Amino acid sequence: MNRFLITVLILLVAGCTEPSSTTMTPGIRHKGFGTLPDGREATLYSITSPSGMNMEVTNYGGIITSLKVEDRDGRFDDVVLGFDHLEDYLSGSPYFGAIVGRYGNRISNGRFSLDGETYELAANDGQNHLHGGIQGFDKVLWDARPFSMGNEHGIIFEYDSPDGEEGYPGNLSAKVTYMMTADNRLIVSYQASTDKATPVNLTQHSYFNLAGPGSDSILDHVLMIAAEHITSVDAELIPTGDLLAVAGTPFDFRVPLVIGSRISETGAAGGQQLEVAGGYDHTYVLSGVGEGLRLAARVYEPTTGRIMEVTTREPGVQFYSGNFLDGNFSGKGGNVYADRSGFCLETQHFPDSPNQAGFPSTILQPGELYNTQTVFAFSTDADQ
Ligand code: GLA
Repeated sequence: MNRFLITVLILLVAGCTEPSSTTMTPGIRHKGFGTLPDGREATLYSITSPSGMNMEVTNYGGIITSLKVEDRDGRFDDVVLGFDHLEDYLSGSPYFGAIVGRYGNRISNGRFSLDGETYELAANDGQNHLHGGIQGFDKVLWDARPFSMGNEHGIIFEYDSPDGEEGYPGNLSAKVTYMMTADNRLIVSYQASTDKATPVNLTQHSYFNLAGPGSDSILDHVLMIAAEHITSVDAELIPTGDLLAVAGTPFDFRVPLVIGSRISETGAAGGQQLEVAGGYDHTYVLSGVGEGLRLAARVYEPTTGRIMEVTTREPGVQFYSGNFLDGNFSGKGGNVYADRSGFCLETQHFPDSPNQAGFPSTILQPGELYNTQTVFAFSTDADQ
């Protein structure tokens, strides 16, 4: 066989093969990110869109470790909090950049009943269950498959969670896809299936600071959240079951508002909710469930002009103002993360739904496909 034919055959075979984590895929590079305690190696992927936006993400926890986004003058800065080294993620991260599951947010007393059986989950937030338990999806090594479709590049992460893991029923196959588009959108798609009814509530826990590294506060960001209610919580941040109307309270972000402008108004109507959470740490109730992607939130950072819009198919978004960042985390480039130096917009179902008959159901049945999507779109005030 001549050399030309051999080359054609190799190209044909390569074209038919699914991209694997070791394949060079256009727009995507990868390197080692360190070794887990059990000896397995984590990988760090770097994805660059044609516009220059760049994301670094590891298969450990599906963690987005860096997201470089343009400002109004064309300068790229990293707009997410995180660490430089795997060891720091292993030794205790407040879910920086991670995929959270099986159940994002809290389940009261780490317990729920389903089909006549009571399930006891791992308690890792006092007596409550938080973000999937002691070893949630943020702390497992996912299988990773980079892919490219024209100008769009991404990674498919897959994880099979065994029956009984952290106390949950059923073998759950979870798949989370990150895709970056040429027009500066990060699309996060979630899919899952199970062989036994189980609660599922997956989310992405990136902490953003659109001013870039070195900015130690998000309080001057301007936020809009398209929601008329929050889920009221008790002193342990477990929903009481009541919805609180945001009108006339410091929770009203329907019209864009500087995050810090009302965060200390614990004496205002509804302010007791700020007091129990030490700031904003509440699920906002979005309308239009079942109508596909809807605008949940829009954030504007005035000094750089950066804008982030969050659209989602989920019924809620947890706005967390970084109240537990207390300067104990020394992050990327030696930046110490002070109180409220990052915010999260975690699209999700409502907390403790397995114990709240009045909330939209989070139970996935065998034969059903859990299928949801959230998009983070970046632009600047120069594009307006
Ligand atoms: C979520 C929770 C917060 C806190 C952070 C992680 O946003 O709602 O209460 O647990 O995650 O520190």
